[in-house]
Amino acid sequence: VKRNTVPQIQAMKGQQKIVCLTSYSSPFARILDEFVDLILVGDSTAMVGYNMENTLTITLEQMAAHGQAVMRSTQKACVVVDMPFASYQESKEQAFRNAAYLLKQSNAQAVKMEGGAFLAETTRFLTERGIPVMAHVGLMPQYFNTMGGFKAQGLSEEMAERIYQDAIAQSQAGAFSLVIEGSAESLGRRITENIAIPTIGIGASPACDGQILVTEDILNLSGPRIPKFAKQFADAQAIIREGVKAYAEEVRNETFPTLDHCFGVAKKNA
Ligand code: KIV
Ligand code: NA
Repeated sequence: VKRNTVPQIQAMKGQQKIVCLTSYSSPFARILDEFVDLILVGDSTAMVGYNMENTLTITLEQMAAHGQAVMRSTQKACVVVDMPFASYQESKEQAFRNAAYLLKQSNAQAVKMEGGAFLAETTRFLTERGIPVMAHVGLMPQYFNTMGGFKAQGLSEEMAERIYQDAIAQSQAGAFSLVIEGSAESLGRRITENIAIPTIGIGASPACDGQILVTEDILNLSGPRIPKFAKQFADAQAIIREGVKAYAEEVRNETFPTLDHCFGVAKKNA
């Protein structure tokens, strides 16, 4: 099996929908690898994996470790790792250093950064130096404090125009794809129709070239904080609860373990 490359993902625009999901760990990555084109090791693991209040507190080292787990457990999916908050906003040199660290630690293929026009120079700097960049505009969770929470973006014409220009700037700077999150539908559609690189929507528009969601959000594993744009596709929580409950019952009523699960026990009818 050959792993999907960044240029292959980019070439899917206009050909077929690009299926993306997040993963942070081996059990999920192994399953996702069968079905998706691209896996994002998202900093959303701060919230769904660590129960942090927002994504600001996850570290570069944590993201590198999650990237490692996902790369070791996949063969086919293109793997992109999120640059965490404050690992790239300071300067393009800081961004290159930290992106290189992430890729060297994990062997992943690309990084994602949240930002539009102000970050375009950084995108160009990394891309020219061998690090493909997935850009991310619209609702950018790392700007939680300046936004004052998670709020849909681009609902006014003026804001929509600014985000449109952000998308154009990232595309012109060499980003290989663009996540559009939590924005007015008409904006996601307009960007998709007017830029050369694939758009990956999450609460954006059905017109986007691809879609992404947080895996835990679609499997009922996220707890009470499910965004409007997520849809539950299966109830993994119910299945896990059933298994854990059965285990607890069998240990308590002494039906597990049996001698079959022990070492050095002579087999009956062997
Ligand atoms: O961290 C994340 O999961 C993301 C998404 C685009 C879903 O950035
Ligand atoms: Na993210």
